Amino acid sequence: MKRSLLAATLGALALACGSPDPNQDDPGTIPFDPKRPTPGGNSEVAPYTGLDADVLTAQLKYPTGIDVHRKLVMRTCSGTNGVCHNQKEYPDLHTPGTFVAAINAPCNVQSGNSSGVFDRCERLGDRFRFVEPVFKEIEIGWFELFPGETPELDPRGTRPDDSTPGLHLYLHDPVPVEQDRLNATGTFIRNFIDDQGNVQALAFASYDTTWWVFENDRRHLFARVNENQREIVEGLVASGIVQGDQNRNGTYGARILGNTVPLIKPGKPEESYLVARLRGYMGEQSVPGTRMPLANQPPNVPDMLALMCFIEGLDPSAAQWSLGSAIDYNKCSYSANPSALSLGGSGDKWSTRVLPILQSNCGGCHGGDNPQGGLDLLGSSHDVDQRLVLKPSRQKPTLNLIQPGSLDKSYLFLKLTGDGSIIGSRMPVNPLNGNSPLPEAELKSIENWIFLSGAEEN
Ligand code: HEC
Repeated sequence: MKRSLLAATLGALALACGSPDPNQDDPGTIPFDPKRPTPGGNSEVAPYTGLDADVLTAQLKYPTGIDVHRKLVMRTCSGTNGVCHNQKEYPDLHTPGTFVAAINAPCNVQSGNSSGVFDRCERLGDRFRFVEPVFKEIEIGWFELFPGETPELDPRGTRPDDSTPGLHLYLHDPVPVEQDRLNATGTFIRNFIDDQGNVQALAFASYDTTWWVFENDRRHLFARVNENQREIVEGLVASGIVQGDQNRNGTYGARILGNTVPLIKPGKPEESYLVARLRGYMGEQSVPGTRMPLANQPPNVPDMLALMCFIEGLDPSAAQWSLGSAIDYNKCSYSANPSALSLGGSGDKWSTRVLPILQSNCGGCHGGDNPQGGLDLLGSSHDVDQRLVLKPSRQKPTLNLIQPGSLDKSYLFLKLTGDGSIIGSRMPVNPLNGNSPLPEAELKSIENWIFLSGAEEN
């Protein structure tokens, strides 16, 4: 029925354009997919006819995945270049094609900052072994290449330390060699899947140099990089060694937690990293890094509903997906209670937002047995009252570290904004280049927590 109507319209158009060719086929045979969804619903999917205003709004604004991409993802991404991502390059969500490619794609692939990586994004790492003496392959937790020339080292004199220029490898298991220093070829091994679907282990790089084994746990290897080897090593690092413990917290996400979560998991919005970054948590776990979107209004309930229903409607067994199909709000489980999707309630709370910011940005110095400045910002999330709220600063005992409801009387907050009255440096200190202030959005969250929610521990 629709089809014949269209044929008539096209016929009229052809006439109007003045190109009538009596021998031409009936223009109604021009390929046209009548199932293409039209805004407001289409023949494939029964429209939602209930009364929930949020569902109706979502259905009207976001009939298909294309609308989710254009009106939600693009809106929250645009503005400042790269705000979509924790890295400019990854994930690229700027086109419908790259948005589709985010389905089942790994998360945190190129995080610029190791502490911003979510354990459940970690993949099985590449493996390392020496060619001679022979020993088993060991998963690589993480690595670091410090630029500059490796100084002269010798077993009885100067040994490498944690920051010696050269290549540092941190492995999952202790290295099974006796020596503390050896000349050997190290190889890097990765699993590939061949045409037949078989997993093949391939040595994708090797490196011949002097290796040092750190004595404390024998999992830390140091490789000397000579001037003529620098390019090889830089190439190796640039080609991307997959790190099993990218965030360096001792949890090998893929090994210990089982399934690595993808950016978008078809059928499973709750296990999609993209959703977790909007919420700041996945299940019970908080997700490190700034809550998305950075620069724009957070999604409202109909926005979230559209995203969740879009993801829930993706068929997990499909080989590829299209953004063009209509979103089925009728079937979508979230349509029963859309207001539960509100991000407002999960906003700037201590446990899901503020604590993770402090842990990932401050914990390196303000934790452990001897925290810098005498201030411990790690530890359990349940003793914030004892350590921060209404507790005097050491540097400026006339001010409390956190004074609920008052920013300019909260010394910890002043240290973060670099207020003129602070003693010492603006926090966080970056040992390499002075200090690197927290991003605006994180400061804003800490501000909201102190100012709006009275520094409640929740
Ligand atoms: C690289 C190490 C380092 C990092 C990272 C770091 N700090 Fe500090 N912090 C220090 C040192 C050293 C001091 C003492 C000297 C100073 O204040 O400059 C200090 C002092 C402080 C003080 C003063 C303590 C008091 O009782 O008066 C506060 C508050 C503070 N830091 C908060 C933070 C916060 C919040 C973060 C993370 C956003 C952070 N720091 C990250 C090293 C660090």
